[in-house]
Amino acid sequence: MDTVYLDGALVKADEARISPLDRGFLFADGIYEVIPVYGGTPFRLTDHLARLERSLAAVEIDNPRDREQWQALFDELIRLNGGGNQALYLQITRGAAKGRDHGFPSAPLEPTVFVMSLPVSVPAADTPDSATGVAAVTRDDIRWSRCDIKSVSLLPNILLRQQALEAGASEAILVRDGFVTEGSASNVFVVSEDGIATPPRSHAILGGITRDLVLELCHEHGLPAAEREVPESELRRAREIWLTSSTKEVVPVVTLNGAPVGEGRPGDQWKQLARHYVDFKRHLCGLD
Ligand code: PDD
Repeated sequence: MDTVYLDGALVKADEARISPLDRGFLFADGIYEVIPVYGGTPFRLTDHLARLERSLAAVEIDNPRDREQWQALFDELIRLNGGGNQALYLQITRGAAKGRDHGFPSAPLEPTVFVMSLPVSVPAADTPDSATGVAAVTRDDIRWSRCDIKSVSLLPNILLRQQALEAGASEAILVRDGFVTEGSASNVFVVSEDGIATPPRSHAILGGITRDLVLELCHEHGLPAAEREVPESELRRAREIWLTSSTKEVVPVVTLNGAPVGEGRPGDQWKQLARHYVDFKRHLCGLD
């Protein structure tokens, strides 16, 4: 996982350098993507590239590569980092200006483009029968009102995740005005007597690619799932809670604020969904 891409060059990670005047460093003026790679192939690449385009447009940075160029670059980096399963991290910032001014520089900058490959651990969904699940806590959603942009400005998410870790949990589930939004780095599904539900796409959440896939799999396999507002009270009495993200896939939450969720172990609906998720991946990678 040693070779990274920075501004047109493939270099060793510890040799890559950016300017301290880069607006990503000074202002967190940039966006990112995390793309899972299975069997050497980026997963749901079209969806990730479409979200990248939306994030760039929202912050008014021109896309520095077209889709074919991104794909070629990713393929090369995946190969140089050993293929197999990994996760690509892509960051684009507005670039380095001469000084420090909040407004965009009048002469357009060359965006800084950085891509690295990260190792991934075996996801819980791969072994549904031996999965133990994770603990989560609830926290007030203290973030801004454009959480749909995958911005590198993640300070609130970092502080919320750290609070979860210090409470002995792996994720903070965020609540705004009495309704669940998402996790500090994941989307949230609940299973209650009202069915399976996840908060709707809006400016209050990141439209997760894994969330969309889980919704698709639920519909395909007769597990009716709704995109609707989820009150905090429904979260607290949920029989199951799932977290979704590109790096963790679908993870069952077994305790919330120290109290068991359902029977305090991964639920039956999660196990069903996990099997469909693994089948879907295997099929896509040509493993079945
Ligand atoms: N985060 N919501 C937030 C706030 C996230 O940061 C993420 C993912 C998601 C899930 O999106 P997706 O299914 O497309 O990965 C939802 C990535 C993995 C990260 O920051 O590392």
